[in-house]
Amino acid sequence: MKKEILYSGKAKTIYKTDKQKELIADFRDSLTAFDGKKKNEVKRKGYFNAQISKKIFEMLEESGIKTHFIKMVSDTEMLVDAVEIIKIEVIPRNIAAGSITKKYPIKPGTQFQEPVIVMDFKSDEYADPMINEDIAVAMNLATREEIDQLKNMALKINKILVDYLGTKNLLLPDFKLEFGRVDGNIVVADEISCDTCRLWDKETGDSLDKDLFRFDKGDLSKAYEEVARRIVPEIF
Ligand code: TMP
Repeated sequence: MKKEILYSGKAKTIYKTDKQKELIADFRDSLTAFDGKKKNEVKRKGYFNAQISKKIFEMLEESGIKTHFIKMVSDTEMLVDAVEIIKIEVIPRNIAAGSITKKYPIKPGTQFQEPVIVMDFKSDEYADPMINEDIAVAMNLATREEIDQLKNMALKINKILVDYLGTKNLLLPDFKLEFGRVDGNIVVADEISCDTCRLWDKETGDSLDKDLFRFDKGDLSKAYEEVARRIVPEIF
């Protein structure tokens, strides 16, 4: 049973439930970029992201990767484990795009020989700065053992998603993962959706993700629907 709001983020609202160990994440239609400075609302965005995220969480669970996902309770709401979020965003990169091409002399579109794992400190106040293991440990964000585990899980998830999305004619240049602690385990938390992945059409190279909104590159609603048609055709 849904109770009061625990926390309202930029794209999801988290509700308490009658069970202390379970929360409800409601995927909203609101959209932000650049640490919340740019904002918009896009009809059905929350619905598509919730359904895409659900499918990906289920697939990861089938591959033996623990996530916070329990079940859907409505079209846009998922019941999840209440976890202690680790404030490190783990970003596997396969093809150079976005911030890495601005910070380093790496040409956009460069295919990396091996996935590059980047870690950012999750903080709007500090604009999600890139960190390394020593900084994360110094800030008490996680232990070295946990960071090892995050990187290993991220690499495994990356492999699963690249292969899976490839069958849907999608490239995965990069994506962002968040993790949480629950009952002594580390599990994948937050969402894996068009908001948190770069997804390019394999044939045309067109962006089908939040870059459309970040850089005013086209119709986000149409693109998210297209990704949903490929990943969750059963909802159409
Ligand atoms: P970046 O190129 O801006 O560092 O983004 C890398 C990936 O992480 C990209 O797939 C988008 C995703 N991302 C988020 O999910 N949340 C964020 O706050 C940022 C900055 C990026």
